[in-house]
Amino acid sequence: MSVAKIALVGCGNPARRWHLPTLSELAKRGVIEFVALCDLDEVLAAESGGKYGVPHYTDIDEMLDRHQDIMAVDIVTGDPTHHVIARQIAERGKHVMVEKPMAITRGCCDVIIDACRRNGVHFEVAENYFRMPKQRMILDLIDRGILGEIVRVYFVEAKARNPFEPTVTHRGLTRPLSKFGNSSGMCMDMGSHRLSQLRLYAMSEPRQISGTVRRYRSSAEFVHEDWAHAMIDFESGAVGVYETSRLGESLHYYQITGTQGSICDDDWSGPAIPLRLQVGDGMEDVPVEFERHRVDGVDVLSRIVVHTDPEIVYVNPFRECAIDDWSVGHAAEIMSLANAALNDEAPEYGLAARQDVEMAMAIYESSLNGTAPVKLPIEGMTSYERMLHEDYRERFGRSFDAA
Ligand SMILES: NC(=O)c1ccc[n+]([C@@H]2O[C@H](COP(=O)([O-])OP(=O)(O)OC[C@H]3O[C@@H](n4cnc5c(N)ncnc54)[C@H](O)[C@@H]3O)[C@@H](O)[C@H]2O)c1
Repeated sequence: MSVAKIALVGCGNPARRWHLPTLSELAKRGVIEFVALCDLDEVLAAESGGKYGVPHYTDIDEMLDRHQDIMAVDIVTGDPTHHVIARQIAERGKHVMVEKPMAITRGCCDVIIDACRRNGVHFEVAENYFRMPKQRMILDLIDRGILGEIVRVYFVEAKARNPFEPTVTHRGLTRPLSKFGNSSGMCMDMGSHRLSQLRLYAMSEPRQISGTVRRYRSSAEFVHEDWAHAMIDFESGAVGVYETSRLGESLHYYQITGTQGSICDDDWSGPAIPLRLQVGDGMEDVPVEFERHRVDGVDVLSRIVVHTDPEIVYVNPFRECAIDDWSVGHAAEIMSLANAALNDEAPEYGLAARQDVEMAMAIYESSLNGTAPVKLPIEGMTSYERMLHEDYRERFGRSFDAA
């Protein structure tokens, strides 16, 4: 059986935690070939190459020259580099996958899309959250209409990383907008996951977003927001609420409310689905079981069984691999890239990731305009994106779309 030959670029934290072990496990099971890896940092590249037994490089072009059989590349580098590295690799005729968020603006997303179209290759985005077993089961329940028509979706993710201090003041977005480091701001960092989840829960396209984005703490090191709140109107009439915070009180939950039932959960990846359905005049809990087994010492999910009548079952497609629930999301995205490369199949998420970026851009833009609603799809470049492109040119000495 022929399998896709995949390489990885960027051996930092997310690669070492999730991508590298998952690529290695899938290769061990014979469903892909893990050909080579690359990081600018020689020590990191050598460490990862040694650990997983693949050749390592510090230069992408050298890796692609030496291994002409590479079909696709998993790019696990920082957000501001996604469009540059993806274009470089697409120009070499290889399929690409970038980590989330797809890129730092819609203009940067389009650099990837255009390069892939011109070179006849596919692109995937490593949005992993909706691909995790529990989230797949929830999306299946929504899709089957078990909750009825979805009317309200919430994702509230207030983490108390920092207390409010007496010195905090109300600040909106100020320049510079980004340091172009590991985070592109909370609405883009965890936001791209959450906006994806909200859109998928609503099973509808966003048509309007109002938001406010605040940076309360004063620190030269910290230019991003530490709090944001957004209201999303979906085509279907459903309404979405997104809140993210790194200071003050802690509160974490997501809620999906339909005309026939709801899921209200404070642990989106934990081993339970608190499903309540309308029965007669009241609401009843529906039991949900998570069945597990072990593979090579790893606790692996076998199935999730929802005890409706008839039962609804999710079967873990990676149940024979030593891959935990979290990394099932990464395994699925890698297989999406592999299938695109091997069978010319459209990747599972791809362009949808641009919509997550677009939703985040709408939040920032609304905030710059005093929470004025932003209509989607957004026409033209937002003032937020224009400023970010100016800051990018200042920082890197070239336009965001320079060849
Ligand atoms: N899906 C998730 O759950 C999840 C979790 C964490 C991070 N991420 C995403 O993963 C990406 C990487 O995260 P990070 O920035 O914190 O990682 P990081 O800074 O720890 O690692 C990035 C690595 O890429 C290497 N690199 C950069 N440019 C390169 C180039 N041209 N050639 C070769 N190597 C290069 C760097 O040397 C570094 O080792 C980000 O986009 C982030 O948003 C996703």
